Amino acid sequence: GAPIRIGVAGVGTVGAALVNMLQDQQDDVQKRFGRDIEVTAVCARSRSKDRGVDLSAVEWFDDPVQLAKSDSIDLYVELMGGEDGPALASIRAALEAGIPVVTANKALIAKHGVEIARLAEKYQTSFSFEAAVAGGIPVIKTLREGLGLARVQRVYGIMNGTCNYILTRMSNEDISFAACLKDAQELGYAEADPTFDIEGFDTAHKLAIVTSLCFGTEIAADEMFVEGITRIDQADIKVADDLGFNIKLLGVAQRTPDGIEQRVHPTLIPKTSTIAGIDGVLNAVALETNHVQELLMAGPGAGGDATAASVLADIFDSARGTLVPPLGMPVDELAPYKKAR
Ligand code: NDP
Ligand code: HSE
Repeated sequence: GAPIRIGVAGVGTVGAALVNMLQDQQDDVQKRFGRDIEVTAVCARSRSKDRGVDLSAVEWFDDPVQLAKSDSIDLYVELMGGEDGPALASIRAALEAGIPVVTANKALIAKHGVEIARLAEKYQTSFSFEAAVAGGIPVIKTLREGLGLARVQRVYGIMNGTCNYILTRMSNEDISFAACLKDAQELGYAEADPTFDIEGFDTAHKLAIVTSLCFGTEIAADEMFVEGITRIDQADIKVADDLGFNIKLLGVAQRTPDGIEQRVHPTLIPKTSTIAGIDGVLNAVALETNHVQELLMAGPGAGGDATAASVLADIFDSARGTLVPPLGMPVDELAPYKKAR
């Protein structure tokens, strides 16, 4: 059949990695998928920037909304970031035009996920966001499709690569917080505004999405206790180490008699625990359910290629037309989020 035409808004760390991946592995796409999948249109702010990708045969749009609803694409991929603005407007425009959407934008989903999922249902198209939680680890697919009838009791994990990279380096080297953060930015791990990473908000966004998928509640990122890692210094790390602990920034959501509790904060983890050894840019998400005692998923949590691999997995699913409700169940069946006291 004719190639599936992808429009990508945002050709930065993740967008450029995705374009490269699809261009370099076109033969593999044919073999695995049976059809070509091509990036035929892109949008970014600056036309003149060198992005290390060949865009000579690709249509350029200055306005993401025009790209998103263009009849020259079959699928829209939003990789600009931002919880509102052009990201939100373009995703709405694509869905209203019946065009499936793939995004990595957890800040946007944490704020507007229910509305967007409802739009996708209304226009009978798909909205997928595997890359939004834990970069290259297929967490969303596992939670949406892999739980069977299991009832989740607790879900927790290391969900921010930048923070884990900073904490790991500070515990192994005599290096400042600021120097580690700068390196994380250069490696493409950090958010455009790294405050989201280091103050814990990015983890909160991801946890809220995971909570919704695990417990069938509405997404509520602003309903939780959030503390980041900016007050951790090397003395804290050293004392923890002497006592047999590593410090990790965890997001935790669990059932309590009063409702679902969600929280994000630095945590002392005994060195004997598997999660204590998840270092650098790696993330890990652990699940405790009545059917599966403990499931641990670990892998790269940030970075262009790992994240683009998850975006590509969504593109494949979406192009196959396997429509799973974005939040694991129809939006109208979600329970209002009830916070534990
Ligand atoms: P970058 O900052 O590297 O890239 C953002 C891209 O979006 C740039 O190409 C930029 O254009 C473009 N852009 C921004 N605003 C506009 C606008 N108004 N109109 C058109 N284009 C615009 O970000 P990342 O690639 O790191 O992240 C993209 C998304 O993926 C974010 O939502 C992020 O949270 C998420 N994500 C990132 C991960 C990572 O490891 N980096 C991992 C998981 C998710 P220009 O280049 O011209 O400035
Ligand atoms: N800034 C994020 C992180 C990107 O460091 O984990 C992946 O979501």
